[in-house]
Amino acid sequence: MNIGILTSGGDAPGMNAFISKFVCLNNKDKIIAFKFGYQGLVDNNTIKLDKTFVSNSSHLGGSVIKSSRCSEFMTKKGLEKALNNIKVNKISILIILGGEGTLKGAKELSKNGVNVIFVPSTIDNDLSCTQRTLGFDSAVNAAVDAVEKIKQTMLSLNRIFICEVMGRHCSDIATDTFFATDSTCLITEKSNYNFKNLISNLKEAIEKGEESPSIIIRENILDIFKLAKEIQNELDIETRACRIGYVQRGCQPSVIDRILARKFAIFATDLIVQKQFNKALCYTNGIVEAKNILEV
Ligand code: F6P
Repeated sequence: MNIGILTSGGDAPGMNAFISKFVCLNNKDKIIAFKFGYQGLVDNNTIKLDKTFVSNSSHLGGSVIKSSRCSEFMTKKGLEKALNNIKVNKISILIILGGEGTLKGAKELSKNGVNVIFVPSTIDNDLSCTQRTLGFDSAVNAAVDAVEKIKQTMLSLNRIFICEVMGRHCSDIATDTFFATDSTCLITEKSNYNFKNLISNLKEAIEKGEESPSIIIRENILDIFKLAKEIQNELDIETRACRIGYVQRGCQPSVIDRILARKFAIFATDLIVQKQFNKALCYTNGIVEAKNILEV
């Protein structure tokens, strides 16, 4: 049997751990990776995966089979090309790893008769079907590590500092980073941000003895460099802003993500044995389950 696999959208730590385990578990089948996600499906850019290809990769961030955000696949012509290449390669099942945009593509393929298994993989943790996506825990750990390092230098100079974390439109990375680092203020779409309140919270923290108050903010809310200047002008305390950025995405997968990747790979293999397709894997209260892809 030929099994296709692809990673699409922003890569997530744990994708390689999944691929590696999945390839090892299904080594009697021919596993064909479509490189660069849906783009590889449109262009028929393939590579055969075997144990040698995936060896020594499960602990690495990124995706060994490459990823991309592919707009061509979203067109009628792109989808037709993709469906044709699935036929050409005699793919019986297609394993798709990615986030929200990737899930839309997986649904489209499923509607067109492709046997799909979707593995939620994005640092953003923004898929409602699952409590946890692959990559989220690693991204939070990377953000916490970065904030703590930044804090050491800021503390030496008694500066206020702002750290912007990823998450696109989801506040989960910001919220967990805020709690884990015991930061002073948190700004997300849920926090009803207003400059006056922020200043009074910072003042209060300083009065209580905090030497270097910290602000954790989710990306895509406001200009952190402008905000740093405004705080500095208002409080006359040196303030710095810093975007933590891609270290959150390119980091090594955490232990939790490695174990989740392993569970997902075993579950996906079981679904194949049971001939259960068009499923999205989900992780709820410590348990992996499969939901109908068209309903999630
Ligand atoms: O979806 C993952 C993510 O890292 C988001 O957190 C971030 O907003 C976005 O991707 C960045 O995308 P790009 O790699 O295209 O700059």
